[in-house]
Amino acid sequence: MEKHSNLSIVVTGGASGIGAAVCKSLYEQGAVIGIIDIDVNAGESLCRALGDRAFFSAGDVGSENSMRAAFSKLESFMPPVNGCVTSAGVMPTRDPIEKMPVEDFRRVMDNHISGTFITCKIVGTSMMKSGGGSIVTLSSVLALRPGPVLGYGAGKAAIINLTQSLAVQWGKKNIRVNAICPGWVDTPFIRKQEEAGRDLSPITNMTPMGRMARPDEIANAAEFLLSDASSAVTGSALVVDCGITLAGGYLPYGDLPS
Ligand SMILES: NC(=O)c1ccc[n+]([C@@H]2O[C@H](COP(=O)([O-])OP(=O)(O)OC[C@H]3O[C@@H](n4cnc5c(N)ncnc54)[C@H](O)[C@@H]3O)[C@@H](O)[C@H]2O)c1
Repeated sequence: MEKHSNLSIVVTGGASGIGAAVCKSLYEQGAVIGIIDIDVNAGESLCRALGDRAFFSAGDVGSENSMRAAFSKLESFMPPVNGCVTSAGVMPTRDPIEKMPVEDFRRVMDNHISGTFITCKIVGTSMMKSGGGSIVTLSSVLALRPGPVLGYGAGKAAIINLTQSLAVQWGKKNIRVNAICPGWVDTPFIRKQEEAGRDLSPITNMTPMGRMARPDEIANAAEFLLSDASSAVTGSALVVDCGITLAGGYLPYGDLPS
């Protein structure tokens, strides 16, 4: 038997980056995988590349109706879902507050915190009926240290608090809820900044391990939190950051305001 053939996992934002790495790693170890993403082409193509235990459903994490429809489609193909990773996320702008329209702040906050709330609400309710499971949310080291990305940092901090509240609410219902706080991870999310002309070398230079994390290294942390290896772990915020939070506050993000 493959190591994780008992797992039936839904990954939001599973079409790219960290979410896609989670899907690949757990699929290779026997899990059934459901991907929810707004990027239909990337999601369907990853499912085809993985094989017949992977399923895709288009969904927008910011809309409860859209997510209910996406989960219900996946649940018609998958065994009862006993794992979920909430990896959908959007790029923040780096505007200072005096130049940031409140709509930008709300867009980024809402995608992250309401998206996580809606996903946890739907999947946790279903896990309560089917006997339990493990939910892994994606926060960030920006939840723990300030950075020049206002709605993003606030949203990621709120995700830790939501994760811990749910860990308490569902503690006796056999549902564990944990957050991962990645530092810089080498995904399209980050590479788009480089393509836009940003020099990322100050960041890696200031990271104790001298590099970004790889998506598969975040997937390894998710695998631990999804599996019985972490059976006594709930409400944690696991930092996976090549040491960047040890390097200070604002500085690891490459600049201080003038
Ligand atoms: N890459 C990093 O350095 C890093 C660091 C810390 C935290 N994170 C967090 O990890 C998560 C994944 O990041 P990534 O680097 O893999 O990004 P990515 O851009 O590679 O993947 C994000 C995925 O989310 C999907 N998505 C975006 N909005 C959505 C929505 N409304 N509904 C459904 N799907 C949506 C995108 O289509 C994409 O497939 C994000 O929450 C991000 O904030 C990333």
